[in-house]
Amino acid sequence: MAWHRGVVIKTEADLAAMRRAGRVNARALAAAVSAVRPGVTTAEVNAATEAVLRKDGAGMAFLGYPGPYPYPAATCISVNDELVHGIPGPRQLKEGDIVSIDVGSVVDGFVGDSAITIGVGQISEEAQRLLDVTCAALFAGIERMRVGQRTGDVSAAIQATVERNGFNVVREYTGHGVGRAMHEDPQVPNYGKAGMGMSLQPGITIALEPMVLAGSPETRVLRDQWTVASRDGQLTAHFEHSVAVTANGPLILTALDEDLDGGASAAYNSYFVGRAPAAAREVEEQRT
Ligand code: MF3
Ligand code: CO
Repeated sequence: MAWHRGVVIKTEADLAAMRRAGRVNARALAAAVSAVRPGVTTAEVNAATEAVLRKDGAGMAFLGYPGPYPYPAATCISVNDELVHGIPGPRQLKEGDIVSIDVGSVVDGFVGDSAITIGVGQISEEAQRLLDVTCAALFAGIERMRVGQRTGDVSAAIQATVERNGFNVVREYTGHGVGRAMHEDPQVPNYGKAGMGMSLQPGITIALEPMVLAGSPETRVLRDQWTVASRDGQLTAHFEHSVAVTANGPLILTALDEDLDGGASAAYNSYFVGRAPAAAREVEEQRT
């Protein structure tokens, strides 16, 4: 195994396996998106996601993950003020909610990890802006996943996109290396300084995951000991892709190969094929 400053460098064969895991992950997330509508429970959304992993013969990276107690599901489903690590259950989604779905699969020993936040039916303009900005921040980070850049450049790009739009990034949770383990080095926070951190080399694979709060960046953990929510009760969003640095630029491991037909809106099809959706691109272009 090759290493670069404590970070596992993936071979071409490793990346091919990670791409297979990522593709399953994308299909599972797409199934979750199709299942989301008013009245559906988060357990039902989880079941739709799990069904894809099972059918594709993939393992579930989150199930049993160590924490206050072993994580009890294949997905994390977090609604409105819940930022990450929400446990699927009997809660019914309702019109106007925003819901984050995070899933991890294992194929041939490698992990794919990705997440999306979507609206349930019609959502407020401010909620939509939060989704657009968070997705734009993810793609701003992906754009920096190149040889010659450093992890600090990736972090700084995510932070700048979020903060110039008046939102905040979480401090306590970070993006991370991903490979045979779901969490490898390096940690890639959603804030940082350009020019700092590890230099990026071909074969480095990182799960970038902007976690964004509409209000104060402070979080709290709910009584189930897993769910992380905003302290002030304001909305939050989370987008994630697993991404490889290659000689030819960033490779989004958790993209689908082609556009979905139906199930997801055009905006989300765009995320699934590894392009910033149009609204997210607009947010990104409004630089001053
Ligand atoms: N995508 C998250 C992460 O990278 C979810 C894992 S939490 C788990 O940390 F406990 F469910 F595994
Ligand atoms: Co992750």
